Amino acid sequence: MPTQHTRRAVLGAALAVAGTGALAACSDGGSGHGGAHSPGGARDSGRYVSPGGKEVEAAEAARGSGPVREVSLTATRARLDLGGGRTVASWAYGDRLPGREVRVTAGDTLALTLANHLPEPTSLHWHGLALRNDMDGVPGLTQRDIAPGGDFAYRFAVPHPGTYWFHPHSGVQQDRGLYAPLIVEDPKEPLAYDKEWVVVLDDWVDGVDGSTPDAVLDELSGGMGGGMDHGAHTMSGAGEDEPGGDGPSRMMMGATSELLGGDAGDVAYPHYLVNGRVPEDPESFTARPGDRIRLRIINAGGDTAFRVALGGHRMTVTHTDGFPVRHTTGDALLLGMGERYDVLVTAGDGVFPLTALAEGKKASALALLRTGSGAAPAASVRPKELDGKPVEAGRLVPDPSVALSGRAPDRTIRMRLTGGMAKYDWAFDGRPYSAKQRRPVETGERVRVVFDNGTAMWHPLHLHGHTFALAGNAAGARKDTAIVLPHRSLTVEFDADNPGLWMVHCHNVYHAEAGMMTVIGYRG
Ligand code: C2O
Ligand code: CU
Repeated sequence: MPTQHTRRAVLGAALAVAGTGALAACSDGGSGHGGAHSPGGARDSGRYVSPGGKEVEAAEAARGSGPVREVSLTATRARLDLGGGRTVASWAYGDRLPGREVRVTAGDTLALTLANHLPEPTSLHWHGLALRNDMDGVPGLTQRDIAPGGDFAYRFAVPHPGTYWFHPHSGVQQDRGLYAPLIVEDPKEPLAYDKEWVVVLDDWVDGVDGSTPDAVLDELSGGMGGGMDHGAHTMSGAGEDEPGGDGPSRMMMGATSELLGGDAGDVAYPHYLVNGRVPEDPESFTARPGDRIRLRIINAGGDTAFRVALGGHRMTVTHTDGFPVRHTTGDALLLGMGERYDVLVTAGDGVFPLTALAEGKKASALALLRTGSGAAPAASVRPKELDGKPVEAGRLVPDPSVALSGRAPDRTIRMRLTGGMAKYDWAFDGRPYSAKQRRPVETGERVRVVFDNGTAMWHPLHLHGHTFALAGNAAGARKDTAIVLPHRSLTVEFDADNPGLWMVHCHNVYHAEAGMMTVIGYRG
């Protein structure tokens, strides 16, 4: 039953039978706005770069080969302690949540072997990295499934410093405990700071009263019958089992947010976590008054945007999605799923709440900054900075070292975001994901992508293997994940300099799995 929705797993299994040759052969058309060309593949074979092709090898060779960092990781069933006496049975990297961070230096070669001790096939995707395509971790597209009992050796040059993370690209596994930070240090770090605090935000349902992310997806995709039974599902529902479902209803009703332009999310999670802890038993980060602290904040959630503020402090944003921006100070940040912000703060004297408000969902997660004595604030504390001046992604200015050059786009790809809650038919251009889709680009082009949101919901859009510039004139910050509001459009630009087959998708894991994913393919 958990596998019935994981079409990526099904595709992967087919590939496992067909062998790697199939990876190169799945390349039919489907370019542009709704224009499907001859599906069926074989005669188009070779028109696109294949993930392990010579163009990919050449791009990798150009990245050089620094010291090799070896890591072994096991994806396994685990009982996780969320704090406050709450433990859950879930899947994780090892026995901790988040998984142990991987820390390397730009220019290193990362050699990470993932052993799959899960009962299902899995994979590992390096969110935000411009790495070689056959190490990108998308089963059915760039690699085969890692079967239960199997393993996979990821090995690639790490190109850019910054704050990244990794997670599976298999079904809705990311909404279990399978995520961890990937920190890439800068050999010429320009920032001066005393301490660093990695802050991973998450929304949690797995293993609570029998719930699993697969059961949540089942409920979302089948449980609404055209919207008539909205009222039948409520956030309370504690303990009452849906007939035929696993655990109580997790359908979110009436979550609205001004910042997100309306409907905030689909899933009512029982817990929201900072670094794997519930707010009643938060992590405490200890520093001294006056310390400059670099926070690296990662939203690893499945269906929750977080609004983040540190009580009693302003935050100076230095990076988003790993890339530097002109330093910009504000009170609060908004992170869609997959987004990261690095900020600097100068610590005050006392005990301060770092609150991550589950935007529009009337709940929050918490961690503490402790530099002096004092009582911890209540779990539900809402520092006033949450309602102060937010730092907006769209207004950030890139650091000159990473700004895209001014250049007219050679190609514009338009993608209309389609679908809705009633049918749970999220897609691009009305066509659910298939690993055969290709939106073509050519190496060397400046590519403009216009995401036109025809839906009533916001979506955090993510492109693999590249860091685009926000805004149509290439003047915006560099990012790999960006929010598009309902009925609005978002224009991004990137240089096509990393050949391969690259996913573009909504980073709401339920929207993605329902079909809001497609592929940008470099022509060979
Ligand atoms: Cu963070 Cu395709 O994903
Ligand atoms: Cu979405």
